[in-house]
Amino acid sequence: MKLLVTGAAGFIGVNFVRYLLSNTTHEVVGLDAMTYAANPDSLDGIDRTRFSLVEGDIRNRDLVDTLVSETDVVVHFAAESHNDNSISNPEPFVTTNVFGTFILLEAVRRYGVRLHHVSTDEVFGELPLEGGGKFTELTAYKPSSPYSASKAGSDMLVRAWTRTFGINATLSNCSNNFGPYQHVEKFIPRQITNILQGVKPKLYGNGKNVRDWIHVDDHSSALMRILDNGQRGETYLIGTDGEKTNLEVVKLLLRLHNLPEDWFDFVDERPGHDMRYAIDSTKLRTELQWTPISRNFEDALSATTKWYAENASWWEASKAEVEIKYLGMRQ
Ligand code: NAD
Ligand code: DAU
Repeated sequence: MKLLVTGAAGFIGVNFVRYLLSNTTHEVVGLDAMTYAANPDSLDGIDRTRFSLVEGDIRNRDLVDTLVSETDVVVHFAAESHNDNSISNPEPFVTTNVFGTFILLEAVRRYGVRLHHVSTDEVFGELPLEGGGKFTELTAYKPSSPYSASKAGSDMLVRAWTRTFGINATLSNCSNNFGPYQHVEKFIPRQITNILQGVKPKLYGNGKNVRDWIHVDDHSSALMRILDNGQRGETYLIGTDGEKTNLEVVKLLLRLHNLPEDWFDFVDERPGHDMRYAIDSTKLRTELQWTPISRNFEDALSATTKWYAENASWWEASKAEVEIKYLGMRQ
């Protein structure tokens, strides 16, 4: 099979491409606009006999049409993905996440190509800290930020194109990923690289917000299972029961670096900050028999920390830019 992977040079996209090349014989074409979020070094060492990268934009109708017409399956990761950026400048979130997905949908409709749309648990909004249960495939959408609203919009388009035009699409909503190649603007890599540079970790608000962490390789294996066995028109939630407060994650990182557990700063709250996310992945586990690797969070975080320590050349340039951006955003 030939797969077109949008956003292939981003964090989850590049991990998924590596996973695909290691675990299947598929041929992969990546499409990526190489925005600030993409790092060309992430593609180093990838087997180029079965992978090629096209530098281009999912909003480019002619390019997308040509690439989709030459492929069997599209796996759609490309997006503006960072909440803080969506608060400072929402426009690219609407144009890439909503309009870009529309362009892809029209192309897969035209050429009868299968689409898997990669989405987020943030479309459901927030759960309360206590007694809120977990998100399921039936939870109503209630996005909070421009980012999550734009992802919700893209999901709605996929569902409408499936029902009205009968396109062959599946959709997944996953919780917070961590692992190698994640941009240093995101929570875990930002705190790891702060510590590596002798700077205190930064916690928004009171640090009590909960995220449901999943290792990026489990996300990739779940996507593979959906591509192989997912039912047309269905949505699957992906998660590995990894709830942690942000404060717990920071304290664990400090412990892994033999630093005092109070060596961090509280900084200004993120506007509209969702309190808690939690995924119930029963449908994926029972209907598609998906099982994640049973990982110990501390070991996986330690391995991720080691990766950043050993790959400083991958992140140092973007780290400097990110911290200047954050300085202007909140103290
Ligand atoms: P990322 O920001 O690391 O990567 C996004 C990639 O998309 C980048 O390589 C970027 O250059 C590319 N891109 C952006 N605009 C584009 C455009 N107009 N045309 C072509 N390429 C473009 O994001 P990520 O964390 O890897 O997330 C990938 C997908 O997974 C997103 O759709 C996101 O909503 C979803 N998701 C992310 C998480 C998470 O925890 N990171 C969880 C659930 C779902
Ligand atoms: O839930 C899935 C989503 O997870 C994905 O759809 C998004 O693409 C991805 O960015 C992520 O969104 P979050 O907003 O949850 O991730 P972020 O890494 O920005 O922040 C995680 C938590 O940590 C959140 O509660 C905000 C907090 N935070 C973040 C940063 C960058 C801090 O306390 N300090 C920080 O410096």
